[in-house]
Amino acid sequence: MINEIMQKKINEQINWELYSSYLYLSMSGYFESQNLKGFSSWMRVQSMEELTHFKRFYDFLVARGGRVILSEIKSPPIEWNSPMAAFEDVQKHEQHVTALINSLVDISLELKDHATNSFLQWFVDEQVEEEASVDEVIQSLKLNENNPGGLFIIDKELVQRAFVPPVDVTL
Ligand SMILES: [Fe+2]
Ligand SMILES: [Fe+2]
Repeated sequence: MINEIMQKKINEQINWELYSSYLYLSMSGYFESQNLKGFSSWMRVQSMEELTHFKRFYDFLVARGGRVILSEIKSPPIEWNSPMAAFEDVQKHEQHVTALINSLVDISLELKDHATNSFLQWFVDEQVEEEASVDEVIQSLKLNENNPGGLFIIDKELVQRAFVPPVDVTL
C-alpha cells in the first residue's frame, strides 16, 4: 500500500500532467489560428505526450494499491502575443513541472518509499529532455528573429515531430 501523503502528491501530479496536456492543446489551437501548422502539430504531439505522463502516474498508483482521485483542471490561457511568447510559457511551465517532480522525489526519500523513488527517476530524466526540446525551439526562434522567412522555416521543421506511443504505457 502506498503512503497517504505520497498518494495525495501523486494525485496532484496527475492533475498537473492533465493540465500540461490541456495547456499544449490550447497552444496548438492558438498556432492553428496563426496558420502555423507545424507549430500547431508540435504542440499536439506535446499534448499527447503529457497524456502518457498522466497514465504513467495513474497506472503506478493503481499498481501500488492507491486510489486515483481526479480533480478539476484549470483553464489554460488561450492567446499569446507571438510564437516566442508561447514557447517562453512552455519553458516556464516545464521548469515548474521539473520542480514538482523534484519535490516528489524529496518526499519519496523522506518517506523511504523506494518503489516510488525508483518510479520517479523516469520523470527526472524525462524533464531533462523536455526542457532541452523547448530550449531548442526557443534558440531557433532567436536565431531567426530578424529573418522574415524564419517562422516559415521553423514551422516546416516542427511539423516533422511525430507522436511515438511508448511501449510500456497503455493509453
Ligand atoms: Fe509531463
Ligand atoms: Fe512536459
